[in-house]
Amino acid sequence: MNEKALEFFGALSKEAREDSVKLANNTDFSELDAKFILKYANEKSHILDLGSGSGLIVNKIYPYVEKIVCVDFYQEFTKFIAKNEKITIINEDLFSFNTQEKFDIVSAFGVMHYVNEQEAQELYQKYQQFLKPQGGGLFIIKNQFGIKETINVSGYSQEQKREYYSQYRYIEREKQILKDLGFEIIEVCDIYPKEANRWENTHFWAIVGKLA
Ligand SMILES: C[S@@+](CC[C@H](N)C(=O)[O-])C[C@H]1O[C@@H](n2cnc3c(N)ncnc32)[C@H](O)[C@@H]1O
Repeated sequence: MNEKALEFFGALSKEAREDSVKLANNTDFSELDAKFILKYANEKSHILDLGSGSGLIVNKIYPYVEKIVCVDFYQEFTKFIAKNEKITIINEDLFSFNTQEKFDIVSAFGVMHYVNEQEAQELYQKYQQFLKPQGGGLFIIKNQFGIKETINVSGYSQEQKREYYSQYRYIEREKQILKDLGFEIIEVCDIYPKEANRWENTHFWAIVGKLA
C-alpha cells in the first residue's frame, strides 16, 4: 500500500510548497506536534524523524535538540528543511534506509497511515533497532487512527483530486502491534483541539512507546 501512497506524494512533490504535505485544506498543527516531541526531548537528544516532508516539525524543534536525522523519499519536500549542522537529510525509502547510529527518539508524524498493518509491523521492528537500548528510547507516532475499527481509504479523493491511499488502523490495534514488539505504551495523547478531528470514525492521537 505504501507504494501507492508514495506515488501520491510523488505527484504532489512536483508542485511542492512548504505546506503541500498538509493535505487537509491548510490546517497546520505542527506547533502542537513540535511541542509534543519537545516534551520528551532535551538539548542532548538525537532524533530520527521518519517522513519529515517539508520540515514543518523539524524546523521548529532543531534549536532545542542536539541532532536530527530526517528521512523522506522526496528532495522536493525536504529542500524546505533548514540548513543547519544539527540536521542531516536523507532522501531514501523508509523501507531501505539503514544506519549504524542509535537515537533517543524515533518520530513518525503523519506517516504511519500511509503503510498497511504488515508494513507498519516491518517499519516498527526495523526502527526499533535504531533506538538506544539503554535509557528508554522512545518511538513517537502521530496520525489519525480508527476510533472503533480500522478504516481503509483507497481510490479517488474529491478533496485531493487524486488517487489516495490510507489505512487508519484501529487505535487499540496499533497499541497492540507496538506492545507485541516489546514497547511499553507510556502515553496516548489527544494531541489536537476538537476541530482538528474532521471525521467521525477517525481521530488524531500521538502514541509514545518506550523500548521496554
Ligand atoms: C503527510 S507528510 C508528513 C510530513 C511531516 N512529518 C509533517 O508532519 O509535517 C508524509 C511524508 O511521508 C513521506 N513518505 C511516505 N512514505 C515514505 C517512504 N516509504 N519512504 C520515505 N518517505 C515516505 C512522504 O514523502 C511525505 O513527505
